[in-house]
Amino acid sequence: MSKGLFVTATDTEVGKTFISGAITAALRERGIKIGVVKPVASGCVTGINGQLVSEDANFLMAAAGMGEERRHEVNPVCLEPALTPAVAAEACGITIDVAKLNGACRHMLENSEVTVVEGVGGITAPIWQDYLVADMIEELGLPAVLVVRPNLGTINHTVLTAAYAKQRGIKLAGIIVNRWDEDKVTLLETSNVAYIERLTGLPVLGKFPSVPVVQEDQVSMRELAGLAEQHLAIDQLLQGMRGEK
Ligand SMILES: Nc1ncnc2c1ncn2[C@@H]1O[C@H](COP(=O)(O)OP(=O)(O)OP(=O)(O)O)[C@@H](O)[C@H]1O
Ligand SMILES: [Mg+2]
Repeated sequence: MSKGLFVTATDTEVGKTFISGAITAALRERGIKIGVVKPVASGCVTGINGQLVSEDANFLMAAAGMGEERRHEVNPVCLEPALTPAVAAEACGITIDVAKLNGACRHMLENSEVTVVEGVGGITAPIWQDYLVADMIEELGLPAVLVVRPNLGTINHTVLTAAYAKQRGIKLAGIIVNRWDEDKVTLLETSNVAYIERLTGLPVLGKFPSVPVVQEDQVSMRELAGLAEQHLAIDQLLQGMRGEK
C-alpha cells in the first residue's frame, strides 16, 4: 500500500512547499526514510548549472536531505512559464505524460518509508488538458492535507475546496493553517478557524507560524523540523500517511 501524503492548498503561494518541507524535515529528524515529489512545477528558474530547476524541488530536497542526483526523481517535469502546468506546457510545445508523472510518484512511494507529494496551485489546477490536481490525488489514492491562510477570505476558499474534495471522494486528513502568528491573532483569525472546523468537520492538524526568512535557502531545516514538531500534529499526520487511521 502507498504510504504518503498529498499536500494541496486553497491557492498558490499559500505555503504548500513550506509546510511540506516542515513535515519532511520533522520526519527526517525522527529517522524516517522520507521521500518527496513535486511531480510538475511551473515558474521554474535557471539554476547554477544553467538548467531549469524548480525552487520547490530545491526546498523539498533540502528538507529530505536528498542530493542533486535525485532531482529527476523528485521533479520530473519543470516548466519555465509561471502559468498553470497545462498552459505552461502547451506554451512551450511540451506534452505532459500524466502516467509518467504518477509513475514517478509511485516510484518514490515504493522506495521510501513515507512520501510527501506537493501539488501545484489548488485542487482544481489543470496539470495537463482536463486532468486536474484532484485527478492525480484520486489516482495515487493518497490522503491529502489542505494548507490554508488564516486571513480574510479563507473560510470560503477552504470550505469550497473541502466540499470539492468530498465530492471527488478524496480523503482529506485535515487542515493546516499557515502563517499563524499567535501574538498577532485577532477575532478575524480565531473566528476563521472556528468556522472552518465547524463547516468542514475536518480536524485542524496545526497552525504554523511565520518564520523570519531572509532567503529561502537560509531556512535551517533542523529549525523547521523543531517548529513542525511544536506546531503540527506530526504523529497524526504520520498515522494518516501510514494508513493507520
Ligand atoms: N510559515 C512561513 N513563514 C515564512 N515564510 C513562509 C511561510 N510559509 C510560506 N512562506 C513563504 O511564502 C512563499 C509562498 O510559500 P510556498 O512557496 O510554500 O507556497 P506554495 O503554496 O508552495 O506555492 P506554489 O503554488 O507556488 O507551489 C514562499 O516564499 C515561502 O518561503
Ligand atoms: Mg510550492
